[in-house]
Amino acid sequence: MAIKLLQDVACEGKIVVIRQDLNVPMKEGVITNDKRIRAALPGVRMALEKGAAGVVLLSHLGRPVEGEFDAKFSLAPVAAHVASLLGRPVRLAATPEEARPAPGEVVLLENVRFFKGEKKNDPALAARFAALGDIYVMDAFGAAHRAHASTEGAVRQAGVACAGPLMAAELEAFGKVLHAPARPLAAIIGGSKVSSKLGLLENLVDKVDSLIVGGGIANTFLAASGVNVGASLYEPELVEDAKKIMAKAAAQGKNLPLPVDVVTAAALEPGQKATTRTVSDVPADEMILDIGPKTVALYEE
Ligand code: 3PG
Repeated sequence: MAIKLLQDVACEGKIVVIRQDLNVPMKEGVITNDKRIRAALPGVRMALEKGAAGVVLLSHLGRPVEGEFDAKFSLAPVAAHVASLLGRPVRLAATPEEARPAPGEVVLLENVRFFKGEKKNDPALAARFAALGDIYVMDAFGAAHRAHASTEGAVRQAGVACAGPLMAAELEAFGKVLHAPARPLAAIIGGSKVSSKLGLLENLVDKVDSLIVGGGIANTFLAASGVNVGASLYEPELVEDAKKIMAKAAAQGKNLPLPVDVVTAAALEPGQKATTRTVSDVPADEMILDIGPKTVALYEE
């Protein structure tokens, strides 16, 4: 299916609304990694270069109680950072109604999760987001798995909706990997939870030659293979699903290697003593925090 792209949409004199994923990590109001903001900039620049009359940016940040303003989850530091990277002012608007841009202005709407109905994909809220401008651009690749008012509902209600350059690039990269890829093909999937990636893992087993799991996901797979993971982050209720994925991989002759050695500590905190151990020797009061050197060599192979 052909996807309509921002690059092909006439923006001259139009207000372009871009849903981005500016959900960046912050510590005490300071952005600790701005990779997502930098990745979102080409969409803003593209809209401005194509003659947009104004640009409205939308994003969520963290998981605030929906419908309530909470300064901890304000996009104010993000607005300041986008402004410094773009080299032009970015006004932070508290409500969709205040977000209408002046000619040539870039506006960032406050955290979309401050508005009741975002997560339930409320059509009335989606309509307010869609009404922010003439063209609604979905460029929030990192939030595209959520059918929320700003990621799904507004796209349906917008007069013109299209994908932004970040979304397009990610879809193209996926396309290359998932359709007729060069082989052998290995996927490395990290993250803390199997539960949020169950469908992805099941799907990938069919497509790849090797599936390497990392992070907390690996711990759940280790538990599924009978390893005592001590105090590690893992999901006991997903152990059966992990077993099924391992069985599926085995039945298809796919490689799903698990760590043979790990680095453990009592807590994920500075100053802790880290110990490299065989995977069968994880103490009950320690947690797996990384793979060990033998596992690195195994995965490289
Ligand atoms: C992420 O960081 O994974 C995305 O921004 C989505 O955030 P969410 O899991 O809070 O919806």
